[in-house]
Amino acid sequence: MNLFNLRRQAARAVEAAPAPALADPVDPLSREHLMPAIERAAQVFVRGQGSWLWDSEGRAYLDFTQGNAVNSLGHSPKALVQALSGQAQALINSGAGFHNRGQLKLVNLLCQSTDSDQAYLLNSGAEACEGAIKLARKWGQLHRNGAYHIITASQGTHGRSLGALSASDPLPCNRCEPGLPGFSKVPFNDLPALHAAVDSRTVAIMLEPIQGEAGVIPATQHYLKGVERLCRELGILLILDEVQTGVGRCGALLAEETYGVRADILTLGKGLGGGVPIAALLARGTACCAEAGELEGSHHGNALMSAAGLAVLETVLDSGFLSQVQDAGRHLRDGLSRLAGRYGQGEVRGQGLLWGLELNEPLAAEVVKAALQEGLLLNAPQPNVLRFSPALTVSHGNIDEMLLRLARAFSRVHTAQLSRRREANA
Ligand SMILES: Cc1ncc(COP(=O)(O)O)c(C=O)c1O
Repeated sequence: MNLFNLRRQAARAVEAAPAPALADPVDPLSREHLMPAIERAAQVFVRGQGSWLWDSEGRAYLDFTQGNAVNSLGHSPKALVQALSGQAQALINSGAGFHNRGQLKLVNLLCQSTDSDQAYLLNSGAEACEGAIKLARKWGQLHRNGAYHIITASQGTHGRSLGALSASDPLPCNRCEPGLPGFSKVPFNDLPALHAAVDSRTVAIMLEPIQGEAGVIPATQHYLKGVERLCRELGILLILDEVQTGVGRCGALLAEETYGVRADILTLGKGLGGGVPIAALLARGTACCAEAGELEGSHHGNALMSAAGLAVLETVLDSGFLSQVQDAGRHLRDGLSRLAGRYGQGEVRGQGLLWGLELNEPLAAEVVKAALQEGLLLNAPQPNVLRFSPALTVSHGNIDEMLLRLARAFSRVHTAQLSRRREANA
């Protein structure tokens, strides 16, 4: 048999196959193929600057979510754009198995500014929380007879990967059960419940200083201090998830500073990258127990993201930056309190530039929709709570404009409510 001929025939057969018929041209902005994993508004955004975003129709929106607190310096801030473009031209990714300057500088600055002993860079808040869980479990093997149970708080959020979801409450992705074993949940701000839950299997307590997704619920000073004391007395770890509250969001580099507590393990994410994905796991004292191979990830500490993190952290640490966040935060809190009073709404709570406004009815999603019509981006972590997480650089003028638009959104919802009632009574 002549193999040469055989191969040539096979090749001809492929060449002769009819070309597939061209499907109808696809709209490049069609949403048909987008997995519906997140509920999204209809707008397609094309440009952002500071506190403003523009959609593909040229309409401007005042952004008081900033991607749920990720764009810590607002949209496309100069420091971040320069750091990213300079780094992209020099080196994007040397590979996780090699050092790069940005990674080393960021890790050193994180440790120095937070008084931590070690830091590790990852891609997302969920991953940082997974890292914290792994570190605590390893520590339990080394120092607490293999204890691995972690106590977390009801309504806590630590991310959407399976371990982080298992630490969260409730498990929002109910079809992916069962979660990971080794977590128990106790009511937040309830010290006796925490005392009662600790046993010989407990290795750590993991909490958010302010529960963001639960509706911006701050831990009380008494509670967090008490949790720290309990951890010290029992010789277990305190893990603070500062993915949402850290990197200046609460008017201090870390929210733990404002409470006067000191965690053994901390997680940072969201605002650290100013809009690009980077997170950090910080460890202190004996919690520095990771060894090579235990946390690895292909993109961990990549040069491009590290450059972004460094630009953000340096900006937040600039003199006067955090006092400006506190000042803007007070202006926002006062304005929201006035508005809440005028419209008969509930409590305004939070810190720095992370605020929640409790509504007296579960109409938050409706207010968010009405605000969108008014050119204002907000979100509703709970059916009766609006959340405000503007750029840390937000001006008093932006805050005043937001309050005007929010008042108009309240009026829209109020009008719609009245007409629904009228129709119901007709
Ligand atoms: C406190 C907290 N931890 C962790 C996460 C997860 O972060 P990421 O969405 O970056 O995975 C979130 C996200 O909302 C969060 O609020």
